[in-house]
Amino acid sequence: MKRKAAKGRKYINMYNIYEEKFFTDTGRQSAGTRSGPSIAVMADIHGNDTALEHCLADARERGADGFLFLGDYAGELAHPERVMSLLYRTAEQYPCLFIRGNKENYWLNYRKNGEQGWKERDSVTGCMLYSYRRLTQRDLDFFSQLEPVRKVEISGLPPILACHGSPKRVNQKLLPGDPETLALMEESSCSLILCAHTHVQRKITHRGVTVLNPGSVGIPSFPGQHPFFAPEEKPEPAAPQHGREPHPVSEKGLAQYLILHARPVSAHAAVSAQSAAAWAAAAWEEEMITLEYDARCVFEELHATGLYGNAPVWCRITEALFQGFPLTHGSVLARAMELCVQKIGSCSWPDIPEAFLEQALEEACASATLRHGGQIVKCAR
Ligand SMILES: [Fe+2]
Repeated sequence: MKRKAAKGRKYINMYNIYEEKFFTDTGRQSAGTRSGPSIAVMADIHGNDTALEHCLADARERGADGFLFLGDYAGELAHPERVMSLLYRTAEQYPCLFIRGNKENYWLNYRKNGEQGWKERDSVTGCMLYSYRRLTQRDLDFFSQLEPVRKVEISGLPPILACHGSPKRVNQKLLPGDPETLALMEESSCSLILCAHTHVQRKITHRGVTVLNPGSVGIPSFPGQHPFFAPEEKPEPAAPQHGREPHPVSEKGLAQYLILHARPVSAHAAVSAQSAAAWAAAAWEEEMITLEYDARCVFEELHATGLYGNAPVWCRITEALFQGFPLTHGSVLARAMELCVQKIGSCSWPDIPEAFLEQALEEACASATLRHGGQIVKCAR
């Protein structure tokens, strides 16, 4: 049955957050003891249509009634245009809410500023240029309608704050034990916050407020124990390689998202008057999901589409991440900027000379060696 998201939308003032009504008529919530809606929450797709297809199919199989997408739809991987078609198709079939991520801001600012300054064969801007060229005006207009934060109201259920980074900033990371994160949680008007941007699937609780991060559909990150790889006890510098060698385990990809299941109203009606925190805890239950898929085509298409040529070091970081190495685009970029400042005195994003990215990636690779099934895995070089 095709269901529609409610249209009601109003502006409220805390951090300029839009309030959106969602699921006012699912046909389930009003059915007394029957369960409420299940909402699939997906984020950080980054142009990986293969991973998105797997997540969408899995969510449908698990009975998702609607979808909340937390931003960063394009970038890093080869098919933003396929990602956008999958998203539009999903929005025709299910209630969907979309949040704007920092990546969407990059494309919109580039268009607004007259499409100047990004270069091919330059990892940071070449990668963005590649995605920008595959996005249509319709996609950019769609992004321009999105908000980075929304308070989501669902009939009979505690409200949810949905954002890409944090309720305050699109590129802020909500992290466990981080004083700014804890302060934001303390002042939140909602007891449940959904965020993304870190690519790390996790749950943070503090003073009755829960932050849930679904992880990344397209490029998940595993800063602790990777599901496939174990760190070597005594890391050794990786042996020099010449050219691009095949990676023995890069056929496997992982994709993450979560499903929020609403418990039946009868299960939480009694606590709804006690406190917002008790109500949210009783009404919502999260299911964290990690899927494995065949990622060979994801890697092949980095080359076949020309993205690798347009952003060589950036793509090698992507490959290293898929292999489970403890680095991210952000960590390599930060080190490259440090090197750039040391060498030439100043450096501003996104103009980072390729040589510094190259050096930063070499350093990150040299300090990490992984083991997978008895085999030493080398970082992409
Ligand atoms: Fe992001």
